[in-house]
Amino acid sequence: MSEISPRKPIRKAVFPVAGLGTRFLPATKAIPKEMLPIIDRPLIQYAVDEAREAGIEQLIFVTGRGKTAIVEHFDMAFELETTMKDREKALDVLEPTRIQPGNLVAVRQQVPLGLGHAIWCARAIVGDEPFAIFLPDELMIGTPGCMKQMVEAYEKVGGNLISVLEVPQEEVSSYGVIAPGKREGDLTEVTGLVEKPRREEAPSNLIISGRYILQPEVMRVLEKQSIGAGGEIQLTDAMAQMIGQQPFHAVTFGGKRYDCGSKAGFVEATLAIALQREDMADEVRAIAQRLLAEG
Ligand code: UTP
Repeated sequence: MSEISPRKPIRKAVFPVAGLGTRFLPATKAIPKEMLPIIDRPLIQYAVDEAREAGIEQLIFVTGRGKTAIVEHFDMAFELETTMKDREKALDVLEPTRIQPGNLVAVRQQVPLGLGHAIWCARAIVGDEPFAIFLPDELMIGTPGCMKQMVEAYEKVGGNLISVLEVPQEEVSSYGVIAPGKREGDLTEVTGLVEKPRREEAPSNLIISGRYILQPEVMRVLEKQSIGAGGEIQLTDAMAQMIGQQPFHAVTFGGKRYDCGSKAGFVEATLAIALQREDMADEVRAIAQRLLAEG
């Protein structure tokens, strides 16, 4: 594992979307969590938009049972388009859902054994290239987008990169946490990683926040990975084994992150994005002010 793959561009991204979404039941009984909309775009659309902005060409969805709506969202909807054309409705609203033929691949994670296992399920499609990972329930909003910022950092330092953000110390035990080394601007060397540490044992308050650029060697580590925290195969544990073997950096994202895997985070994202959108900000601000005044 000591050999680093030559610096190849990041062309592929893995979207693990096979989780059960239990925190959003019953909404997610028949609809994938990633299809829940923030205003008028499903969560997965925001992640795919961010990937394309970063120059990623091939999208690899790791899906499970009941997740076909995600793949359909990015498919051509012939009847819908024909009917819309007949009714002289503009089709540009569907533009973000168009993917070049061959650039969307879906693989199945047959049993939800954890994020690390989900990534490993994509190994044959990832092949021998560095690749990006997006957790779509973490919504990253900023200019440039989080992955674009990471790809720019990758072009400088290569190796493996994860996006991080600072949280209050009392929240660290819900996340993967980094042990920080040397810092230079928004880049921090990573000297260790620990998944869901106890608050007093956490090496920092910098948490991993849902975007990764990893070298393909991680697949070999995942292959041998045993069950970790929460009874799942943890990506964090596999990445921790790459530290010292290959360059490993964290990028502090310059924008805002919303944890849409939690209900309060989902509501926060909906409000924040509505307040940023020209077509609805004034109306939503007035509604929010009225609701707050009513207590
Ligand atoms: P989460 O634990 O946040 O998502 O996993 P979940 O399991 O869908 O949601 P809850 O906790 O039950 O509400 C983080 C990411 O990893 C994916 C999820 O789809 C999500 O994008 N994942 C998780 C998999 O693809 N497979 C798994 O076995 C576990």
